[in-house]
Amino acid sequence: MIVDQQFGRAWAAYCGDSCEVLPRIPENSIHLSVFSPPFAALYTYSNSERDLGNCRTDEEFFRHFEFIVAELFRVLIPGRLVAFHCMNIPAMKERDGYIGLKDFRGDLIRQFQRQGFIFHSEHCIWKDPLIEATRTKALGLMHKQIQKDSSMCRAGIPDYLIAMRKPGGNPEPVAHPEGITSFAGMNPPRDAEGNLSHNRWRRYASPVWMDVDQSRTLQKDSAREDRDERHIAPLQLDVIERACFLWSNPKDVVLSPFMGIGSEGYVALEMGRRFIGIELKQSYYAQAVRNLAHAEEYANSQMTLLECEAPMQHRSDDWLRCLGWRDSIAEETLERAEEKGI
Ligand SMILES: C[S@@+](CC[C@H](N)C(=O)[O-])C[C@H]1O[C@@H](n2cnc3c(N)ncnc32)[C@H](O)[C@@H]1O
Repeated sequence: MIVDQQFGRAWAAYCGDSCEVLPRIPENSIHLSVFSPPFAALYTYSNSERDLGNCRTDEEFFRHFEFIVAELFRVLIPGRLVAFHCMNIPAMKERDGYIGLKDFRGDLIRQFQRQGFIFHSEHCIWKDPLIEATRTKALGLMHKQIQKDSSMCRAGIPDYLIAMRKPGGNPEPVAHPEGITSFAGMNPPRDAEGNLSHNRWRRYASPVWMDVDQSRTLQKDSAREDRDERHIAPLQLDVIERACFLWSNPKDVVLSPFMGIGSEGYVALEMGRRFIGIELKQSYYAQAVRNLAHAEEYANSQMTLLECEAPMQHRSDDWLRCLGWRDSIAEETLERAEEKGI
């Protein structure tokens, strides 16, 4: 059930379960999906059984998630990509019976492959082991473990950005005739002998991203009423910006089935894309709506008259109506409101 829905001129946000909202999106209509999946039993976002983060076991998580992956495959335009952000999960003695690592990243890739996706690209995103050690107190990262028995020492756990491609020819090429005209990340490359775009591409194409600003997240940028939300880990804006640049065109429709506080949409709108987001938890959804409205305001203020053409000038619902699915959801929400006597 869709608890709430709100629209901007270039975005639509739904408060509800992705398993129920995704089937309403027409097939082959989404240009790019960027998101971080909720991790099974690692963080608790809410107490809802619809929350994928509340699955009791890994098997349960992947049974639930299979449905999302199948829907992503259906709604994506052929030749286009899903870019998801994830990390491997530490196995814990109390929960898993042993201390070690679980190949969550690999399990996700294999699940996408089972649904027909092609494993397209992977970036490893460096994270500081000292910060992880301080935050998690993981035995394998402690300096004292080196002194005691280093057979139990391990590497820190990085993030990954995994891109999976839907087979088929991409009907709308993502062309950058001017090369890479801006750079998202730390220590931007300098223009040596006029090869700036090449140097930027070298950094974007690096299999390990050492230059993602971990602190550039939405909570930091627009922190307002998030202090009560302890568990959300907003996706770094640099990562989203790189994914949107590489794998979408301006005005493309970007989808996040796990929108959280709206980071993916925030960047998509800033970069002139359209956005559809779904989030289960109401307080995150409310924050996402505020963030999306803020991003749209910013994007509009940056636009020249020339750029201000469709769809930005259209009424908020026009482009969703074009997608052919807004009305059915709107009607259903209205019916439910009437049932409840609202
Ligand atoms: C890793 S967080 C996403 C954070 C987001 N990338 C951001 O930067 O704000 C995962 C989100 O998925 C949401 N979620 C979990 N199960 C869901 C479901 N079935 N449908 C929609 N959202 C869900 C959680 O409430 C949580 O906000």
